[in-house]
Amino acid sequence: MTADFSRPSLESRYREAVDRLEVFGQSHILTFWDGLTEGQRENLLAQCRELPLELLQREITSWRIGQGSPRKSLGEIEPAHVVGRDVQDRAHYRAIGERMIRDGRVACFTVAGGQSTRLGWNGPKGTFPTTPLLGKSLFEVFAESIRAARLRWRGAIPWYVMTSPLNHAATEVYFREHDWFQLGRETVWFFPQGTLPSLSHDGKILLAAPDAIALNPDGHGGAVRALATSGSLAQMKREGVDTISYFQVDNPLVHAVDPLFLGLHMEHPESSAEISSKFVPKRSASEKVGVFCRRNQRTLVLEYSDLPADLAAATRSDGELLHGAGSIAIHALSRAFVEQLAMEGRGLPLHRALKKVPCLDLVSGLLVEPAQPNAVKMEAFIFDAVPIAGRSLVYETRREEEFAPIKNADGEDSAATSRTAQSERAARWLESCGVSVARSSATGACMATIELSPLTALDETELALRTDLPRVIAADAEIVL
Ligand code: UD1
Repeated sequence: MTADFSRPSLESRYREAVDRLEVFGQSHILTFWDGLTEGQRENLLAQCRELPLELLQREITSWRIGQGSPRKSLGEIEPAHVVGRDVQDRAHYRAIGERMIRDGRVACFTVAGGQSTRLGWNGPKGTFPTTPLLGKSLFEVFAESIRAARLRWRGAIPWYVMTSPLNHAATEVYFREHDWFQLGRETVWFFPQGTLPSLSHDGKILLAAPDAIALNPDGHGGAVRALATSGSLAQMKREGVDTISYFQVDNPLVHAVDPLFLGLHMEHPESSAEISSKFVPKRSASEKVGVFCRRNQRTLVLEYSDLPADLAAATRSDGELLHGAGSIAIHALSRAFVEQLAMEGRGLPLHRALKKVPCLDLVSGLLVEPAQPNAVKMEAFIFDAVPIAGRSLVYETRREEEFAPIKNADGEDSAATSRTAQSERAARWLESCGVSVARSSATGACMATIELSPLTALDETELALRTDLPRVIAADAEIVL
């Protein structure tokens, strides 16, 4: 091996790091330097180089200024302007969307960098077994949807998957083991999102080990930067993709490619074709979904944790929730809009959350497992791009058709409720094709378990073309189609 004389010595890079960290009051990161091996020192210096110290400083200053003052006012919040399911000219918009897909202008994009803490799944969430009978994973369901859409509309539809540094390798291994679900490995792209350090309440960066900063993924809003730095936007441009169909990893009912929504996004007068969104009416004031609102003539999403209880519970004269347009985190984004956000370098605003983060005690050097939240984690949210856009379309869809997320180990929005919703949707589609499905006379619930692959049909219209459907599905039957 030849020595690299062009590279500054470890000692001089250390001095440089100390100087830079001191400016920002973060030199404690190097507390354990003397006891580190050379490899560990290189590791820590590499992490220090990546720290966005100016950005962190701005954040810390803004939250110090906010401390002690009453909660920031949300300003004048009005209900969002939305486009209902009765939208005119559906066939026209659908035809536009179908043409976009056929012309290779559409890519799918899944954000899969979350840590599945609530679900308690030890692995990338996309590998979670999901379907009611065969237990196919979330990733497999999306892959089948994309493959079915490619076959139906004869479009290329590449798939981009954002992972995090914590699950990137495991996600790639999973796809390799499953031969990329027959999509063709050259059509599926993985890239990890960025990270941000966890901070103590007084703004000090926490250490996870003597040579490691405590880092957390920077939220799905980190997608803007990661799409750019990974080269994904450039790759899309080369392939002629101008529209991104965005969805979260947790919702197996998502229509990964929806021509009607894409057509509305592109041409509806309410849309500036930058970012569009789908919503469903909230099932209750306390449902944990963001809501679409308006402020200063702009559409925005208020996250459930930021929506004061009185606003969440406010009702209209007809008794419906005033702010009831619940975000299901499905968007269409123009590639040019994402490029512009990434180029401006301002990124999306950061949201703070108090969390329990194991970290080193700087005096004893021991790892402390906190009993109470001890750290501030910062994350960006993709929906903060909505108010940046000119006009942003917010389109209503049916919950039972498109939204059954798996978020919790049990109770609401769990694997069990999602399996039931998948089976119910299949039953409804079959009934619309004339199949008789056993239902409970008391509740109307489907009494069979039905698993319908996207490769069999992407919707009722496609299902109706099949000639091999059963005529009757009895109670307790288990049917895979
Ligand atoms: C999210 C939305 C909420 C919406 C609801 C619909 C946020 C903050 N809130 O809530 O407005 O109504 O979904 O289901 O997103 N992810 C990353 N990287 C990260 C963090 C998350 O890729 O750093 C991905 C996750 O893998 C997941 C998605 O983002 O696919 C949502 O994350 P999660 O934190 O579970 O959001 P929710 O609280 O469910």
